[in-house]
Amino acid sequence: MKPSVNLTLDNPAKTVHFGRHLGNMARAGDIFTLAGDLGSGKTTLTQAIGQGLAVPADCFITSPTFSLLHEYPGRIPLYHMDLYRLATSDEIVELGFEDYLYGEGLTVIEWPDRLQDLMPADRLDIHLTFTGENSRLAVLTAYGNMIPRLLSCLPE
Ligand SMILES: Nc1ncnc2c1ncn2[C@@H]1O[C@H](COP(=O)(O)OP(=O)(O)O)[C@@H](O)[C@H]1O
Ligand SMILES: [Mg+2]
Repeated sequence: MKPSVNLTLDNPAKTVHFGRHLGNMARAGDIFTLAGDLGSGKTTLTQAIGQGLAVPADCFITSPTFSLLHEYPGRIPLYHMDLYRLATSDEIVELGFEDYLYGEGLTVIEWPDRLQDLMPADRLDIHLTFTGENSRLAVLTAYGNMIPRLLSCLPE
């Protein structure tokens, strides 16, 4: 069984609060995937995850759309991938991104559908959808070893 949880993010502050929780609970080797349309809040959530990981404030987290991968120092490293521009998982292997997935840090992946057969078995999927100008719905689905920790990542 894969537990799914719906979280209502009524305003950007709720998203930030949730992201900080995720960053606080993250452990080396964790993988969070962030799916959702452009503007649904994937990068906003990643910035808050960075706060929870104690990424220094002067390391401003931006969308790595053109570089595909940004690495930030924190309590553990944050590997932030944006796979939007990739077509197949072969390209991901060619770029050596696979090594990051099982590395020493937390990997946050925007546009995870590009992973195809490389999709890791243990991960937390977060799907963001628009419910209003300033509100979003986050659907969380945990797989493998992320399942027991799913509940601890939910904000009060
Ligand atoms: N509840 C919310 N959660 C997250 N972002 C929100 C919310 N309400 C409004 N926004 C705004 O939506 C935009 C999301 O942009 P961004 O995080 O770059 O999205 P993506 O990376 O998915 O394209 C930001 O301008 C943010 O301020
Ligand atoms: Mg983005």
